[in-house]
Amino acid sequence: MILKSERLYLRMPVQEDAPLRHEWFNDPQFTRLYLGRPTYTTYKQIEEEVKFAALPASYTGMMELALLTTDNNRYIGNTFFRKINMADRSAEYGIFIGAQDLWGGHFGTEVTRIMVDYGFNELGFNRIWLTVLSFNHRAISCFEKCSFKNEGVFRKAIFSGGTFNDVYSMSILEEDHIQK
Ligand SMILES: CC(C)(COP(=O)(O)OP(=O)(O)OC[C@H]1O[C@@H](n2cnc3c(N)ncnc32)[C@H](O)[C@@H]1OP(=O)(O)O)[C@@H](O)C(=O)NCCC(=O)NCCS
Repeated sequence: MILKSERLYLRMPVQEDAPLRHEWFNDPQFTRLYLGRPTYTTYKQIEEEVKFAALPASYTGMMELALLTTDNNRYIGNTFFRKINMADRSAEYGIFIGAQDLWGGHFGTEVTRIMVDYGFNELGFNRIWLTVLSFNHRAISCFEKCSFKNEGVFRKAIFSGGTFNDVYSMSILEEDHIQK
């Protein structure tokens, strides 16, 4: 399955993505911001993650896609729905752009809008939710621009950078979603 945004296309993850993904998930600038990951991930673990992403969403409850630039096929990150629950028509949303030179370049907003549209219009979700570290201002701004609303705080939930950090819970409902 392939989705497209203005400057990117989204395709299934493949093992050729593993070297860059391994680099990103062992970069302290990245792992500091990306919730729920250890600071070190083995290459084997990365390969397992890519393998898992290729399994059917009906089995894994997860749909993950790699992000590539349309102009030069550069692999820059991933996006996904996981914990897909069709009884509640809900899923958790995630995104990471590993290419740090592109942070703040509006790719996150571009992808999130496409995924939210796809989640509501094609997958039939009623609620898309996420969690984000309270100091990850860039990510919060990106999600707010895409109409996610802050719905609560998990106080001091994550120990990172030598301190306990708050985590925000954010969501967007189908009724909040403006059809384009
Ligand atoms: C979070 C992420 C997906 C956002 O994508 P992005 O392309 O960098 O973000 P965008 O450019 O679309 O939007 C970010 C916004 O935050 C703003 N911003 C950047 N740094 C900021 C800061 N320190 N404080 C407040 N706002 C900030 C930008 O100006 C931009 O807003 P604008 O469009 O009004 O200028 C990407 O930066 C990323 O993957 N980071 C590392 C991993 C991560 O944090 N993943 C999310 C975990 S929940």
